[in-house]
Amino acid sequence: MAYVGKKIFACSMGTLAIQSAEPRDAEEFLFLVQKIDAETDFLVRAPGEFRMNLNEEAQFIEDKLRSKKDILLTARVNGVLAGTLGFVAGTLSRYNHKGEFGLSVLKDFWGAGIGKRLIETMFEWADANGVIKICLEVDTCNSRAISLYRTMGFVEEGYLRMDRLMETHEFRDTLLMARFNPFYSRSISNYALQARK
Ligand SMILES: CC(C)(COP(=O)(O)OP(=O)(O)OC[C@H]1O[C@@H](n2cnc3c(N)ncnc32)[C@H](O)[C@@H]1OP(=O)(O)O)[C@@H](O)C(=O)NCCC(=O)NCCS
Repeated sequence: MAYVGKKIFACSMGTLAIQSAEPRDAEEFLFLVQKIDAETDFLVRAPGEFRMNLNEEAQFIEDKLRSKKDILLTARVNGVLAGTLGFVAGTLSRYNHKGEFGLSVLKDFWGAGIGKRLIETMFEWADANGVIKICLEVDTCNSRAISLYRTMGFVEEGYLRMDRLMETHEFRDTLLMARFNPFYSRSISNYALQARK
């Protein structure tokens, strides 16, 4: 079970608690996702395109808890759900060593180090669970996120041109970035392969 137990950090806004999402978080989760989608145009969905209901959200969280290869983290500041990170592993055997993540924090909580702590928590779990490559896609206009990813050791892999067509009829490019598990070289040990089975 891909469960990440609670970790407590001090941050500029109070006590930050990071752990795997649980089905009882579903209602707050729906609110968080809808609010963040409306606050920023840097995520994949346009406002209103997130259409899960409460039961579906609770089931989604439950499925993540049961999955061995995916994680869904919550970040709470003084008990309030402020951000989330979801990591999804490749399912085909040739892509099993890697996965992609998405990250979002409510605007009121930006700049308090929540994004950074969520990524650190993902790294710790990923490195202990045989994930060799962590990928992400980011809008090239999202300088705040790109700066965070560079700080955390992600390197640039390439661009997807005219990747997003915005509601304003503007095209946006996407930057692909990746972080490689520091404990593996290009010639991968059997241990790494076994760990992902
Ligand atoms: C991008 C996002 C996740 C960052 O979360 P956050 O909790 O504010 O990030 P942190 O407080 O951990 O910031 C850490 C780093 O971000 C960068 N950063 C913070 N504020 C910044 C700013 N105003 N301009 C540029 N970079 C900035 C810095 O590298 C900072 O590191 P430092 O504090 O050591 O200098 C958040 O702004 C967000 O959710 N945005 C909307 C959704 C989104 O864009 N998600 C990413 C999609 S790929």
